[in-house]
Amino acid sequence: EESKNIALMEDANLPKPTKTKISQLAAHRSKRARVSGWVHRLRQQKDITFITLRDGTGYLQAVLSGRVNQTYHALTLTLESTVELVGNVQVVPEGKTAPGGHELIVDYWQLIGAAPGAEDAFTNRLNEKTNPSIQADLRHLVIRGETASAVLRLRAALLAAFRQTYAKHSTIEVTPPCLVQTMVEGGATLFKLDYYGQPAFLTQSSQLYLETCLPSLGDVYCVQESFRAENSHTRRHLSEYTHLEAELGFINFDDLMAHIEAMICESVDILLADPNSAALIKQLNPKFQAPSRPFLRLSYVDAIAWLNEHGIKRPEEDKDGNPIKDKSGKEIMVEHAVGDDIAEAAERQMTDIIGKPVFLYGFPAELKAFYMKRMPQKEGSDVLFTESCDLLMPNVGEIVGGSMRIADYDEMIAAYKREGMDPSAYYWYTDQRKYGTCEHGGYGLGVERLLAWLADRFTVRECSLYPRWPERATP
Ligand code: 4AD
Repeated sequence: EESKNIALMEDANLPKPTKTKISQLAAHRSKRARVSGWVHRLRQQKDITFITLRDGTGYLQAVLSGRVNQTYHALTLTLESTVELVGNVQVVPEGKTAPGGHELIVDYWQLIGAAPGAEDAFTNRLNEKTNPSIQADLRHLVIRGETASAVLRLRAALLAAFRQTYAKHSTIEVTPPCLVQTMVEGGATLFKLDYYGQPAFLTQSSQLYLETCLPSLGDVYCVQESFRAENSHTRRHLSEYTHLEAELGFINFDDLMAHIEAMICESVDILLADPNSAALIKQLNPKFQAPSRPFLRLSYVDAIAWLNEHGIKRPEEDKDGNPIKDKSGKEIMVEHAVGDDIAEAAERQMTDIIGKPVFLYGFPAELKAFYMKRMPQKEGSDVLFTESCDLLMPNVGEIVGGSMRIADYDEMIAAYKREGMDPSAYYWYTDQRKYGTCEHGGYGLGVERLLAWLADRFTVRECSLYPRWPERATP
């Protein structure tokens, strides 16, 4: 092995190179630099080899010619091998382009880890024709790609932008537990587990914990994984997703919606103002434009009327919620009525027609979680509505669900009873209403869904590092 590289020695007479990440190379132009990374692209000609090097911070064009191009390792180099390159950083000649506007003229290099060639070569295992299920198995290799890594990079920038926005609004970050013994969004989607002989669950939402932080820390937020045992194979459902949740004290329902809008718009503005994240958005979603404010607000009752005016129907269901089919096996479609859930398909059609963010608000209590504050009941109406809202985005649908919470102690006890919940498990939540209650509300935002909107991805699966859905918890 040693003899293969023997021809190459670093020239001790040259100026000492600075070890640098690719993103920092502009500061080293006309100087020697040492960079390490993976061979992302490779073009070998008779006397010259072009490498596009990738180190996670960016891409660099490197040129190997003469002595450094004549070694055994140069002749047998493969994609995805790791190398260390040393050379001069030169601005590319006029009329030529390269990432960053410069290239590395290599005068010394070393192979660190050779990737296999032939059958086991990277591009044989993963390429454009690889079927989606194999791609999911190879997610660890997929994320090396330009698009997948750009999505993950934008995701990091998005979370950083949100943290900056929350800090600006005096909202502080907490880290609630994932292992819990209470439910938030109904028992049907809980992952149950054995906790030292006791039943426990993976959290569905950190909301209840955030509420307990108000008297201690004031307005709070968290970025925590939530888990949903939803057997939904859709473009927007994951079994584990990153849940950005916030809770605010001494507010009303209008304040809540204004706050959600502000957090999203201010965070998007931060991303667009930063050249790196703006470039990622441009790469992934060239047509993206910051949404205009204020967002459209549409009450649930008006949304039902809107669906009917636009001929958007829902499948008729039996009393167990299963669609009823006609003799030919087709689902029977009917008009929406007040009290109906607006299902994913109808919601998606609606947001796509409206074509911009829209708040749906005031959902019937029947359809919503136990903790939601009720609106005063309208005279002559038998439907009870809640101070709840969903924010819908084109292409994705619901990305935020929020509400005002029941602040009154007796009303909360009545809510547990109505839902058949055992109040004793919720003593700590109830105490919020006992020791100095306040009007408060909050929301949960699906980070992968927001990213799918921002980066124009077909599914939330592309927006998660290692997505989980039914039948998939690996890699
Ligand atoms: O509407 P959800 O269920 O609301 C709650 O959990 C509240 N307790 C949040 C709160 O008020 N603190 O979920 C909130 C958001 C949804 O709008 C959606 O964006 C995302 O979480 N979400 C999912 N994302 C991916 N996969 C799933 N299975 C999701 N379920 C919800």
